[in-house]
Amino acid sequence: MLVLCNIIWACITLIPLVSCSNRDKTYTNPILPGWNSDPSCTFVKEWDDTFFCTTSSFLAFPGVPIYASKDLTNWRLASHALTRPSQLPELCNPGQQMEGMWASTIRYRDGTFYLITSYIQWNDWAPKILLFTTKHPFEDNWSDPVVIENPANDIDPDIFWDDDGKIYMAVAAGIWISEINIETGAATEPFKVWNGTGDRNPEGPHFYKKDGYYYLLIGEGGTELNHTATLARSKDIRGPYEGYPGNPFLTNKNTDEYFQTVGHADLFQDASGNWWAVALATRSGPAWEVYPMGRETVLVPMKWEKGEWPVIDQVRGKQSGPLPPTNKRVKGNGPFADEGDELNFAPGSSFPKQLLFWRPPRTSLFAISPPGHPNTLRISPSRVNLTADTVYNPAGDGIAFIARKQTATTFDYSVELSFQPTQADEEAGVTVFLTQMQHIDLSVINLATNGSLAPHLRWRVEAVGNPNYTAPEANTVPLPKSWRAQPVRLSIEATEDSQYSFSAAPVSRPKEAISMGTASAEIVSGGSGPFTGTIVGAFATSNNGTGTTPAYFSRWRYTPKKQAVTAGVFIPA
Ligand SMILES: *[C@@H]1O[C@H](CO)[C@@H](O)[C@H](O)[C@H]1NC(C)=O
Ligand SMILES: *[C@@H]1O[C@H](CO)[C@@H](O)[C@H](O)[C@H]1NC(C)=O
Ligand SMILES: *[C@@H]1O[C@H](CO)[C@@H](O)[C@H](O)[C@H]1NC(C)=O
Ligand SMILES: *[C@@H]1O[C@H](CO)[C@@H](O)[C@H](O)[C@H]1NC(C)=O
Ligand SMILES: *[C@@H]1O[C@H](CO)[C@@H](O)[C@H](O)[C@H]1NC(C)=O
Ligand SMILES: *[C@@H]1O[C@H](CO)[C@@H](O)[C@H](O)[C@H]1NC(C)=O
Ligand SMILES: *[C@@H]1O[C@H](CO)[C@@H](O)[C@H](O)[C@H]1NC(C)=O
Repeated sequence: MLVLCNIIWACITLIPLVSCSNRDKTYTNPILPGWNSDPSCTFVKEWDDTFFCTTSSFLAFPGVPIYASKDLTNWRLASHALTRPSQLPELCNPGQQMEGMWASTIRYRDGTFYLITSYIQWNDWAPKILLFTTKHPFEDNWSDPVVIENPANDIDPDIFWDDDGKIYMAVAAGIWISEINIETGAATEPFKVWNGTGDRNPEGPHFYKKDGYYYLLIGEGGTELNHTATLARSKDIRGPYEGYPGNPFLTNKNTDEYFQTVGHADLFQDASGNWWAVALATRSGPAWEVYPMGRETVLVPMKWEKGEWPVIDQVRGKQSGPLPPTNKRVKGNGPFADEGDELNFAPGSSFPKQLLFWRPPRTSLFAISPPGHPNTLRISPSRVNLTADTVYNPAGDGIAFIARKQTATTFDYSVELSFQPTQADEEAGVTVFLTQMQHIDLSVINLATNGSLAPHLRWRVEAVGNPNYTAPEANTVPLPKSWRAQPVRLSIEATEDSQYSFSAAPVSRPKEAISMGTASAEIVSGGSGPFTGTIVGAFATSNNGTGTTPAYFSRWRYTPKKQAVTAGVFIPA
């Protein structure tokens, strides 16, 4: 009897222990590897205990990705809020490379997901605040946006429902709030609630209400090495706000941590009541020179006792916390954020969710398995190349370029290219791309050299966006005659955290591979793309010539290999 009692007692006590407050487990950051800045996340019990996050997408299209997870470490690409050019025609306006969709906030309320975000044009500063909604977060059919008035003319909108039913929007810099009407988009005269602790760029606000306090979490210091997250609270949403005595709440500034620029955070609770923060971070070390993946999303556990200020761990590559049980059974059919690609472009298939265009594409330039070319992606040439020229019109010309994010420190990427150019300067190839002014390309290009027109292999660095970097010379060699009857495999390998190698080979004779060039990842770090991260992909162009020959890409492979978790320490990706 005693034994039985003991067993029963153990069962009654142990089961709640296990299911209510998960035991600490180790995990690695980033949780959303690759270009995924300004994370905002929320936990939705009504969707079978699923976490949802969004990150900034700038000029990428489809834009404003939504990721979903049940265990905080395996994140599936669920949908994009921006999938129809008609939702935001301005995204085709010409402008600078760091424009477009900036930081968002995602929240769930009464059956609806709300995603509030802003569209920025640098030379015409009038941030446009957009509120997208859906009841189907795993479908690419988010609403057309409600445009919310933006009397503070500012960025980084937060949306917050108060207990009295009022809905507030907060924007930066210096934190302003307005009451908003989410049906009409009307916003009241903005009211300044907090300037932050005095550092520059107080931005990225998020509001939470807990134990009778309004908590306001913001980013400060700028999104570079001085980046922090700071916290304030008040019993009245209009203030006055009292700063957290331990501010900055979260930062890695003035440390030699591998993960730098930590800031722009958001907070949420899991099913067991544990609190978590997500933030952006850059795997650069304090040198902050080589960081091709830009700003990524990290997860940090925190404790938040009733009426107290929260206490949070420091961001590191190897972290531990009370994670929910591992569970990859997330709805939807998108890939997981750390997964590779094995794309064969089968007839009847659609564009894989993880593939991106640079601004909304001219769709006529792309076709999957067109007649006579099954299992290929046909890219017809754009007039402009990846760099384009001063008369480039994104809406009219388009860029014939499609890519995916670099998500691992080291990786292999390759495609097979069938391309029979006839006119001078026709070109098709692959690239590691940060912006139109910073990319490293390997292509087949038809060149008139030595008095005759012939296809060549060309490796070339565009680094005008990174003025402190002297680009290595291009390497151009005639495409060997013996290769011309078959496709060419173009390969990019990130061999270590700071270097890319490019090679070409006839597909049936890989041993004949020609090494075309090796370039530093510094070329695609910072410069004209301070907020973005590298993508790898394929392009075709006439280089402003008369050519119209399409390129056929097949067997698209992206294989993540290793992730750096601290300087020089790698784990399998
Ligand atoms: C979105 O797609 C889902 C699933 O197909 C459908 O049930 C829903 O009605 C769609 N919503 C809109 C707004 O089109
Ligand atoms: C923010 O700073 C401005 C300029 O110093 C000051 O006028 C304003 O009162 C401050 N606002 C708050 C909410 O602290
Ligand atoms: C970071 O802060 C230090 C000390 O205040 C300052 O000297 C430096 O210019 C700041 N750097 C940036 C990029 O803001
Ligand atoms: C031009 O011809 C020479 C000799 O045949 C060859 O070595 C060279 O690679 C060619 N140059 C180009 C750019 O095709
Ligand atoms: C180039 O170097 C100078 C001097 O070190 C520095 O002030 C500047 O910010 C750098 N520019 C870029 C785009 O990195
Ligand atoms: C890109 O095209 C422009 C003409 O539009 C040309 O001047 C430039 O050299 C081209 N760049 C490359 C790398 O071919
Ligand atoms: C592009 O081609 C047009 C028409 O031939 C020409 O007028 C223009 O100068 C070219 N642009 C560049 C950048 O070479």
